Amino acid sequence: MRVDVLTLFPEAFSAPLGVSIVGRAQKNDIVEIKIHDIRRFSHDKHGKVDDRPYGGGPGMVIKPEPIFEAVEFIKKEVPRSHRRVILMTPQGETFSQKKAIELSGSAHLTIICGRYEGVDERVREVLVTEEISIGDYVISGGELAAMVVIEAVVRLLPGALGDENSVRSDSFSEDFLEYPQYTRPPEYRGMKVPDVLQSGDHEEIHKWRRREALKRTFQRRPDMLGRIKLTEEDKMFLREIKEQGV
Ligand code: ADE
Repeated sequence: MRVDVLTLFPEAFSAPLGVSIVGRAQKNDIVEIKIHDIRRFSHDKHGKVDDRPYGGGPGMVIKPEPIFEAVEFIKKEVPRSHRRVILMTPQGETFSQKKAIELSGSAHLTIICGRYEGVDERVREVLVTEEISIGDYVISGGELAAMVVIEAVVRLLPGALGDENSVRSDSFSEDFLEYPQYTRPPEYRGMKVPDVLQSGDHEEIHKWRRREALKRTFQRRPDMLGRIKLTEEDKMFLREIKEQGV
């Protein structure tokens, strides 16, 4: 996969994308991430890329020319791409695991990070194919939001996770909230690790984890349960939880 990012703050990306899964995926050529400074495409000798909004009002709007020219530059570098151009904005579709899975099937993504009061509407109308928000709150710009999307997508690319992790993502862990995890010591300040996890009985451990994940999802995110295909055993367990009121 190749990801091109357009930003006014290219330096913001190096540390977060240089470490852990994404850092390793870049080193192993699973993903190539190119960060482009929008100011490089400015026509102004001071590198100015924004201007006052027509009609008045506070703040500044990113001008269309540098964004159009940056995207055209990328098109030349990646000629046969499908041209998915994503704008990070609180007005976009709320990001989700489903969207991450969908994006991970693309060979090339271009991500525009908005700033200030926004970008000129003509960028939206002509260049942008989808708009993504990372949640119903406003942050100062699209940079952190773009990094969230990149991180969520890259870890889904084949080979990005180690073996141990990829096995786990095959299980129910993507649909339910995570089950409780424990490591050594078996007892800490009087708090014991559940016996079943130390039993070595893999079938019982699997059952316990599924139930705990189901319980946690029911308690914290009941809205998610409607989207999950439940087995007869799950349904029975859910009825038990509801009856016990836990
Ligand atoms: N830019 C500012 N706030 C944002 C959000 N919530 N999601 C995506 N981009 C943003």
